Amino acid sequence: MEIGTNIQKAASFINAGDVVAIPTETVYGLAASILSEKGIQKIYELKGRPKTNPLIVHVASIEEISKWVEVWPEKAKILADAFMPGPITLVMPKSNKIPHYVTSGQDTVGIRVPNHPLFVELLKSLPAPLAAPSANPSNATSATQAKHVFSYFKNKDLPYVLDGGACVNGLESTIVGFEKNEVVIYRVGAITIEQIERLVGKVKRATTKSPTLTPGMFTRHYAPQTPLIMTDDIDAYTKQHPEANVAILYTGKKKESSNVKTTYINLSESDNLEEVGQRLYATLLALDEQSYDALLIQPFPSTDLGITLNDRLTRATTKK
Ligand code: TXA
Ligand code: MG
Repeated sequence: MEIGTNIQKAASFINAGDVVAIPTETVYGLAASILSEKGIQKIYELKGRPKTNPLIVHVASIEEISKWVEVWPEKAKILADAFMPGPITLVMPKSNKIPHYVTSGQDTVGIRVPNHPLFVELLKSLPAPLAAPSANPSNATSATQAKHVFSYFKNKDLPYVLDGGACVNGLESTIVGFEKNEVVIYRVGAITIEQIERLVGKVKRATTKSPTLTPGMFTRHYAPQTPLIMTDDIDAYTKQHPEANVAILYTGKKKESSNVKTTYINLSESDNLEEVGQRLYATLLALDEQSYDALLIQPFPSTDLGITLNDRLTRATTKK
């Protein structure tokens, strides 16, 4: 596996039907041409991902979207104009030019215009869009740096990682669908529900009981190996486990724990949730390399990006 910044090299692997890792503003992805069935199949094999879980299609500009969708709901246009390029994925009826192996046989496609200069340049140099899921084994924490992709796939047949530095958002895109004129959030993400509602009014949040079940909603996802415990009462936990070797993730001012072995990790001194988002996965991945008994974190206030952070933490949490 090679890590580098050579767009022509990445393009030549893609054009040969192979898979390359690419940087985006959200998380790294494993990309193949939507027209290469071999490449798409390889993505599923590399991730160990069920074939029933569709891939997001990435295009270079908003204008390009109309080539690949059958219908553009009015509210989708509003959201595209406001947030694209950027961390939002719109699920729309697909054009028949998108092969069914990209969407797991569904008639809709999740489409997104990324906002990372290297990735956009790569897309512009290619004859067709790129399908890309996050660059991690299925159910593992998403990669936000090239080195994370390297350690996940170093023993696999992944020829190239396009290194675009650390992802600025660090959280996956928000996935939005349109059902009978209603806007439905399939996955909360880097664009907040409040940002969306300001433009299109009240939205619905899909639950696992909704008819359209987005596999990103499966409860166990984004999971580190070390038990992660989200609790309002960290002190109660450390008192109950005085000998445990724990790391407390926090923002703002540190609250001393009664456990002497505690390691403290500040995710944002200024309580800035965007900064927390940027650093969360990288921090979890780094802590996973050490042998803590548990990682402890308080839930964030349930508004704005706090909703997304709590969602990802809940999915990564070992329920007690
Ligand atoms: O930020 C992101 O969205 C990253 C970067 C690489 O673009 N990609 C990403 O892909 O997170 P992935 O595959 O890890 O998660 C995408 C989610 C999956 O849960 C999939 O089920 C859902 O999007 N999805 C894709 N196409 C869909 C569709 N047509 N309808 C409903 N859900 C869809
Ligand atoms: Mg993923």
